[in-house]
Amino acid sequence: MTISRIAQPDGTLGILLPGLGAVATTLVAGTLLARRGLGAPVGSLTQLGQLKLGAGTRERTVPIREAVPLAPLTNLAFGAWDIFPDNALEAARVAGVLEERHLAPIAEELASLRPMPGAFYPQYVKKLQGTHTKRASSKADMVAQLRDDIRTFRRNAGATRLVAVWCASTEVLVEPAACHQTIAQFDRGLMQDDPAISNAQLYAWACLQEGVPFVNGSPNLAADFPAAASLAREAGVPLAGKDYKTGQTLMKTIIGPGLKARLLGLNGWFSTNILGNRDGEVLDDIESFRAKERSKLGVLEQVLEPERYPELYGKFHHKVRIEYYPPRGDAKEGWDNIDLFGWLGYPMQLKIDFLCRDSILAAPLVLDLALLMDLAHRAGLSGTQDWLSFYFKSPMTQPGAKQVHDLFAQQRALEATLRAFAGEAPLAPGGEARA
Ligand SMILES: NC(=O)c1ccc[n+]([C@@H]2O[C@H](COP(=O)([O-])OP(=O)(O)OC[C@H]3O[C@@H](n4cnc5c(N)ncnc54)[C@H](O)[C@@H]3O)[C@@H](O)[C@H]2O)c1
Repeated sequence: MTISRIAQPDGTLGILLPGLGAVATTLVAGTLLARRGLGAPVGSLTQLGQLKLGAGTRERTVPIREAVPLAPLTNLAFGAWDIFPDNALEAARVAGVLEERHLAPIAEELASLRPMPGAFYPQYVKKLQGTHTKRASSKADMVAQLRDDIRTFRRNAGATRLVAVWCASTEVLVEPAACHQTIAQFDRGLMQDDPAISNAQLYAWACLQEGVPFVNGSPNLAADFPAAASLAREAGVPLAGKDYKTGQTLMKTIIGPGLKARLLGLNGWFSTNILGNRDGEVLDDIESFRAKERSKLGVLEQVLEPERYPELYGKFHHKVRIEYYPPRGDAKEGWDNIDLFGWLGYPMQLKIDFLCRDSILAAPLVLDLALLMDLAHRAGLSGTQDWLSFYFKSPMTQPGAKQVHDLFAQQRALEATLRAFAGEAPLAPGGEARA
């Protein structure tokens, strides 16, 4: 498949963030600091990554942002929704991720980012009581109000293009239902206030209808159902998700492929976390944890391929726990106990204790996803963008395609697509070209 010549990113790219909490404020603050040269965008492929181009004697390595036409940090404008009225400065202080020395130089800009009232039906996030929310006569009316917000933001920011990246809370586990099958059924579900339509879906639907690429950073059922895929294709809009791959799952998809490369066997992998931020509080509700658990559990089976190596990976025990522990704030601790075995079946153990910072790991992914989705949109791609699996715990795929979890396989797919964007090679599967 070939792609159309990519238009240059003229004008302002508006980045819309449903949810102005720890991840979103860390992203906005970090971007403002990086743009003034007051902080380094560590962890961001689009800002620091290099890409190999050419072959043989003509092989050369160039910065990704020179290889493909990405929007520069100076041309970004941020908008947000939240169910609490705190501006980005206040919300960053509540989140407690960044120190005052990082907030002070950009305090004014942060304070000017005030969230629009959120679309919020509380049964999907039971631990939060929002005070800054929209009133609507139906879920269809809620979508109409979100669409109005998008248009107003586009106008006020003077944006030529928009992307939306979900940074709001994890919702209770919602299973796909009849309303998720076709565009007409979903529209009917909105009018009838179907309980299978959660807040995240309202935002995704509004964005797709407005032609805005949508990324889901949480495990929520937001856009990974047939009706959303059809709408994305019809509207010529790229979609990606879901659930940022940051701490423990990142480690799992780095270590797992290594164990398999050496054909070391696995008896069990027990993962537990303590964290004390608002995300942790929301996950303290068992129904929200179920959604997270599902997205965390899927990775090992795909990486280790037990069907191909039954004697090594045929019966390992995989367990994931998350404990809400307020003293830790955003400074999460993730422990992994890995029971592996080697030559003649002799047992060994590997212990990982990752003292990480959740939002510090997530912010660069949000920036990359916003810039790469804008690039994909300008390249004429629509529908699910499998090549962005690199960023997700539970990657969305095109119908019939298998999820890939191995971080290095994901990196190869991403780089292959970037090379295609740079005009070097045909486009790998993972994005549909718009007609
Ligand atoms: N930090 C990480 O490493 C990481 C990794 C993977 C996924 N995530 C996901 O990213 C999301 C954000 O994480 P966070 O740490 O910033 O959480 P957070 O609790 O600090 O922020 C979420 C914000 O969303 C708001 N919100 C909830 N429902 C809303 C709605 N319907 N409309 C608008 N706003 C709404 C909340 O008020 C809150 O301010 C979560 O879903 C989390 O599971 C985070």
